[in-house]
Amino acid sequence: MKKSELPLSRVYGLLEPGPVVLMTTARGGRANIMALSWHTVMEFEPPLVGCVVSGRNYSYDALETTKECVLNIPTADMAEKVVGCGNTSGRDIDKFQAFGLTAEPASTVSAPLIAECFASLECKVVDTQLVAGYNFFVMEVQKAWVTPSKKTPKTLHHLGRGRFMVAGRVIELASEKK
Ligand SMILES: Cc1cc2nc3c(=O)[nH]c(=O)nc-3n(C[C@H](O)[C@H](O)[C@H](O)COP(=O)(O)O)c2cc1C
Repeated sequence: MKKSELPLSRVYGLLEPGPVVLMTTARGGRANIMALSWHTVMEFEPPLVGCVVSGRNYSYDALETTKECVLNIPTADMAEKVVGCGNTSGRDIDKFQAFGLTAEPASTVSAPLIAECFASLECKVVDTQLVAGYNFFVMEVQKAWVTPSKKTPKTLHHLGRGRFMVAGRVIELASEKK
């Protein structure tokens, strides 16, 4: 199979790792949501997650100031709401109202959980060393919530330019490790 060159601006679409998440923040009593796919797991326990949040986003200031957020994991049936949250700004609209999403209080952070998402991770920013250079926030998950009835949730994975892959078949192989 012969390969052809891919523009460097499209490389990220090949490496998109985990599911698109909806990051909630809250500042001054006002909650907001943004779509986020540039995240990576950094440690098992306590779980550390690194996220790239552009300084152009309204969410950036809230995250930088409060050092708290919730990473909510949506399923594919929520795709239009996810794209909506990724193409509008909390500067202009209330995204909970605009996209019919329900805020529920978290237990360790001021940002809310999104009820419609099958999982929610309450996070606190624990390291900002790479924020100035890369907008990379290191967060520690304080509390994790899942919906036990959703055994194999169909998550959304961003391939770039409005294309998404929906999580598919699960296969299990013997493993002694985590
Ligand atoms: C699928 C998807 C994934 C995105 N991933 C990221 C991301 O990882 N980091 C980021 O800074 N913006 C990302 N964005 C863009 C933000 O979600 C977008 O700029 C949003 O409007 C910010 O909202 P805010 O101004 O209310 O914070 C993504 C958008 C989409 C649609």
